[in-house]
Amino acid sequence: MNAGIIGVGRFIPENIVTNLDLEKQMDTSDEWIRTRTGIEERRIAGDDMDTSGLGYRAAKKALEAANVAPEEIDMILVATVTPDQPFPSVACMLQDKLGAKKAAAMDVSAACAGFMYGMVTAKQFIETGVYKNVLIVGVEKLSKVTDWEDRNTAVLFGDGAGAVVMGPVSEGKGILSFELGSDGSGGKYLYQDTHIRMNGREVFKFAVRQMGESSVNVLEKAGLTKEDVDFLIPHQANIRIMEAARQRLELPVEKMSKTVHKYGNTSAASIPISMVEELEAGKIKDGDLIVMVGFGGGLTWGAIAMRWGK
Ligand code: UT7
Repeated sequence: MNAGIIGVGRFIPENIVTNLDLEKQMDTSDEWIRTRTGIEERRIAGDDMDTSGLGYRAAKKALEAANVAPEEIDMILVATVTPDQPFPSVACMLQDKLGAKKAAAMDVSAACAGFMYGMVTAKQFIETGVYKNVLIVGVEKLSKVTDWEDRNTAVLFGDGAGAVVMGPVSEGKGILSFELGSDGSGGKYLYQDTHIRMNGREVFKFAVRQMGESSVNVLEKAGLTKEDVDFLIPHQANIRIMEAARQRLELPVEKMSKTVHKYGNTSAASIPISMVEELEAGKIKDGDLIVMVGFGGGLTWGAIAMRWGK
């Protein structure tokens, strides 16, 4: 049995904060942010909407798209590092809000690679026949842990949510291979005490190396080559890091998803948000080979090669 995506949804808060807005608040410039990161603006959720509220809206859309009723969900996995509170988990909050009566629920903590960890976890339950419908939500309200006095990090992040429903799909479709990894010795380069703290240069070096390597590794594991790739969905942290992964796969620009300019780095939400946008733009088609790849605090990383379609 193969596990694939049967429905997707995303939710982006309305409030746009541009680089020019940030220029007024701190010692930075639109020019610096654009050239160093590719970010032009980001969305910031209001006080009335926490992580569970963002995730709930994305989850509803994914369930509708998949034509799966809440009572049919077997498991809810929420990838986030900004839960409403340490417990109950955001997944449990969604279980209640959605009315997913029979669902098991837990949060996955793997920072920006969290959505990859969530999808691979879902795959295990689906392919063993234990569960049929698994809802995976990648959601962050990073604005609540951003240090707005620290220009090194404040310009990078945004809020948002993306969700997919995974279930059994036909032979040859769905997840073909994956790679997950971690290196806790690099935890000191990106962490949260009260706020997000980061050694940008160290994370950058790690990300460039890992994004490329993991992308190539999942292709090899699936018995495929760079030429087989139709579309790359990298974690949207920094256009320069994304470009390095694209070049490693020797893909033309139009075959890589880019939403970082509009939403900044939304951590665990960035890959599913990008996936929804590319589907809506008609850039991902049935039968396409998609490579998704992410990295983040932990340090963690994950990549998936997937044949799109049910
Ligand atoms: O999801 C994972 C999360 N993290 C990441 O993906 C981050 C990975 N790292 C990066 O994306 C990049 O390292 C950054 C975008 C964070 C920084 O870019 P960089 O090219 O590595 O710049 P840098 O850290 O080497 O800093 C260059 C200069 C510094 O000034 P000095 O020390 O050379 O005088 C910084 O103080 O840029 C300065 N700087 C800024 N200037 C204007 C740092 N932040 C800003 C800012 N505006 N917002």
